[in-house]
Amino acid sequence: MVPYRFEQRLLHWVIALVLPVMFALGLWMTARAGANLWDDLTNLLYGIHKALGFTVLLLMVLRLIFKLRAAAPTYASTLSPVLLRAAKVMHGLLYLLLVLVPLLGWAGVTAYPALITVAGYHLPAMPLIGQSEALAKQLFALHGTLALVLATLVLGHIAAALKHLLFNRDGVFQRMWPGKATQNR
Ligand code: HEM
Repeated sequence: MVPYRFEQRLLHWVIALVLPVMFALGLWMTARAGANLWDDLTNLLYGIHKALGFTVLLLMVLRLIFKLRAAAPTYASTLSPVLLRAAKVMHGLLYLLLVLVPLLGWAGVTAYPALITVAGYHLPAMPLIGQSEALAKQLFALHGTLALVLATLVLGHIAAALKHLLFNRDGVFQRMWPGKATQNR
């Protein structure tokens, strides 16, 4: 089975490791904010969430460039067309949300404005977004809702990958595993 390119697998696993941290930080910091706990820890959690989330956005741009430049390696012929279609739709949705969720967060902190992250470092403002707290609140609400949709899809994605690894044993999991690349397309 031909694996994905090395750089695609690297980006996949870096983002896969960062995502649970992003979900945990998002839920933890908003719970503290909801309890009106505005201390150094809450500010640090927000700062890390914004800086890491912006990094995910940049990594996703890189990932999209790699995806557009090289076709995905072909699957084994044992996979049914229905399953292949379902996988394509799922991967498309994951890509869409992995771009949309950080974009909405960035748009929200630009509108608020709350661009400061950690160690006094400020994110650039998103172009074309004016300052409006009301707009920021709407963007954050959408950001939070889509982040939960993303978390649900990620769980489905992990379940499907584990099914291929443990039950089907058809090499699908190994296409994305960071082992030694034998053959790149
Ligand atoms: C893949 C990337 C990201 C994920 C998975 C993610 C996830 C989350 C989650 C789960 C929440 C909690 C939502 C809630 O409970 O209402 C949240 C809140 C928040 N996120 Fe993100 N986020 C990401 C990227 C970003 C980025 C890039 C920024 C800004 C640069 C950002 C800024 C915020 C802010 C300010 C909140 C709090 C909103 C509020 O107080 O209502 N996030 N995020």
